[in-house]
Amino acid sequence: MTGWALVLGGRSSYPRPETAMPAAADRTEHRDFLNRYYGVSRHFYDLTRRYYLFGREGVIEKLLSEEWSKLIEVGVGTGRNLDLLHKGRPSAQYAALDACDEMLGHARKRLPWLSAIHGFAEDADMTEPFGGERPDRVLFSYCLSMVAEPVAALQNAQASLAPGGKVVVVDFCDLEGLPGPAAKGLRKWLEWFHVEPIRAELLEGQGADVRFGPMRYFIVGELPALD
Ligand SMILES: C[S@@+](CC[C@H](N)C(=O)[O-])C[C@H]1O[C@@H](n2cnc3c(N)ncnc32)[C@H](O)[C@@H]1O
Repeated sequence: MTGWALVLGGRSSYPRPETAMPAAADRTEHRDFLNRYYGVSRHFYDLTRRYYLFGREGVIEKLLSEEWSKLIEVGVGTGRNLDLLHKGRPSAQYAALDACDEMLGHARKRLPWLSAIHGFAEDADMTEPFGGERPDRVLFSYCLSMVAEPVAALQNAQASLAPGGKVVVVDFCDLEGLPGPAAKGLRKWLEWFHVEPIRAELLEGQGADVRFGPMRYFIVGELPALD
């Protein structure tokens, strides 16, 4: 099983990919940054993000048109997406993962029925909140662009899936259809907030089918479970 390892003695119930992980110091720094950033902005997050986190409605609508019963959102934020999914399919089981303590606290308070854990997308056990059972959907909504090792995060999510499951990603793309100065300004602004837009090749390299939003502002990718 080249490139893969069963995590021995750990909590994981699925084989984890052997990929580069951020150093502990970088993780502490990332966690501190997220707690500082979202500690204040989480209060007006949903109100402001509706004007620039595009593509989320379409993804939620498509998810609700498919068959699944266990979904985990990685980088749950305020819990806004899970709130909508739960309203659309209350019978399903939902879980959440976030590296930011402030956002986790916010989501737990908003969604008392939610099973939410702290962790990093690259190596958190995505079956843990389901008592070791595998999810059939893993959602990354504007989270992957903030993750230090996005390939590791995708592989971890794919490895955790139940057979026939899917990882669904919606995030900023390369903005290639935007006029030059607008794209340049937006890229700079995203950089200030530690956001690295997602290239199509990154998702395609993990077996994704991708589609793009207008002007390649956002990308949506669907990735299969790993064998
Ligand atoms: C831009 S917000 C998106 C929130 C929500 N998914 C949405 O669509 O509104 C990104 C979220 O990802 C979380 N995050 C960033 N890096 C992460 C990582 N390495 N592992 C897990 N969560 C992370 C942040 O704390 C934040 O809650």
